[in-house]
Amino acid sequence: MAFPYRGYNFTAMKTQTQISSVTEHACDALIVNLFEGVTTPGGATGAVDKALGGLISQLIAQEKFEGKLGKTLLIHSQGKIPAARVVLVGLGKSQDFTLEAVRRASAAAIRKAREARAASVSSISHGARIGGLEPASAAQATVEGALIASYEFTKYKSKPDNAAIESFTLISNDPAEVEKLERGARKGQIVAEAVNEARDLINTPASDVYPEMLAGYAEALAHEAGLGARVLDREECERMGMGAFLAVAKGSERPPRFIVLKHTVEGAKKTVAIVGKGVTFDTGGYCIKTAESMFTMKDDMSGAAAVLAAMRAVGRLKPGVNVMGIVAATENMISGSAYRPGDVVRAMNGKTIEIENTDAEGRVTLSDALSYAASEGADEIIDLATLTGACVVALGRRISGLFCNNDALRARLMEASDTSGDLLWDMPLLADYFEQIESKVADMKNTGGREAGATTAALLLQEFVDAKPWAHIDIAGPAFVSKDNGLVSYGGTGAGVRLLIEYLTRGQ
Ligand code: BES
Ligand code: MN
Ligand code: ZN
Repeated sequence: MAFPYRGYNFTAMKTQTQISSVTEHACDALIVNLFEGVTTPGGATGAVDKALGGLISQLIAQEKFEGKLGKTLLIHSQGKIPAARVVLVGLGKSQDFTLEAVRRASAAAIRKAREARAASVSSISHGARIGGLEPASAAQATVEGALIASYEFTKYKSKPDNAAIESFTLISNDPAEVEKLERGARKGQIVAEAVNEARDLINTPASDVYPEMLAGYAEALAHEAGLGARVLDREECERMGMGAFLAVAKGSERPPRFIVLKHTVEGAKKTVAIVGKGVTFDTGGYCIKTAESMFTMKDDMSGAAAVLAAMRAVGRLKPGVNVMGIVAATENMISGSAYRPGDVVRAMNGKTIEIENTDAEGRVTLSDALSYAASEGADEIIDLATLTGACVVALGRRISGLFCNNDALRARLMEASDTSGDLLWDMPLLADYFEQIESKVADMKNTGGREAGATTAALLLQEFVDAKPWAHIDIAGPAFVSKDNGLVSYGGTGAGVRLLIEYLTRGQ
């Protein structure tokens, strides 16, 4: 089956690196920056200020521009330099400066340029020279911020809300730096395109993103990115013994698909499995959700979207580890054939789960996806899932819960979180709480009450990883936002994509 699926328009944006002097560079909008508290700009900003006859310093004083992170000032250059306008963006306090600050500054600046209807936008790399950041990383973060913030989901709009930016050029006047900037910018572009691709999959309604579609999408992706692909249909899943995943799928008219993508490297030291919750719509089943809480449940495949998008980036960046991307894709619907409270299901590893609540379906589908990963020789398993409302209550929309059974894996993920800006908070996998999910009739039940709801969900998942090093990342909060989070303003965020790519490509 062919899926002519391409909704995103960000690839139309040409991204490049160029050696050029800020005062001689032609574009519609030129982005320069200022640390908080600086009144006399230096560096590239200083050079532009001088060429504009001190206009920037004057405006800083008049407009009380303090350089707070993400605050912007639009300046018309009145023919004094070839750039038609200058966007001055605040970097915040120099002592708080991080790669995430670079992304946010870059994001705020490009939005300002878009408001001013600039088609060609150029920017210096924030913090490469003055902020003490490694130049390639600074360039990467500058490009990530710009491309993530200029994404727009336009597929279902008769006309887009904003004019599209046609090109984004990273400029530097230092030829010695260009190789590093180019390398960083290329990686930034790959990461940002993966983030935006995940957002497109999440934002597309469940009428158009359903298990077969995701499978077709994954196969096309594998073909384009040079990955191996295997898709199991209902009968094949049955033969594999995936009774848990298939129980959730029973209520839907749309057949389930179990998707596996593979990046294989000769002589690789380990195989990392990345597993994404792929519930393309979650009604709650017979334990039906309220209208309000169901409205955004097209986002319940955000983990799957992150895994698929990260797999495309893996195909492009070719890390030296084997990577297996796994998605058990299904809807959670209501019908005469749907699973019921009280049903007992058996997962691929033989363990049984009593269904106490059909709305706790994510963990049921993941039990088979994790069993599969463990049985297929994964040395490490990382799952991403919009798993629990409890995690949203605990941590909000900015930070995901990390549940990990291995100290070394946890430490590496925390480092990757720091670099990538995908925030994680270490949460407890307290074995004592397993008693909350003890069942009278099966090995466990799929809910454990309100207390520590994110932990009891994770404890259930742990039963299916065969004691391998494993991390569960509950992205229920950060996966979808209704207001600006510094990079994304509404909709699917691509949470976890940057983290996965950073983790898988670290040290190369
Ligand atoms: N997909 C939801 C979790 C969710 C909630 C994601 C809010 C994003 C925002 C999941 O399948 C679910 O319904 N979980 C239930 C579990 C409960 C019945 C034990 C929940 O958290 O309410
Ligand atoms: Mn649910
Ligand atoms: Zn769900």
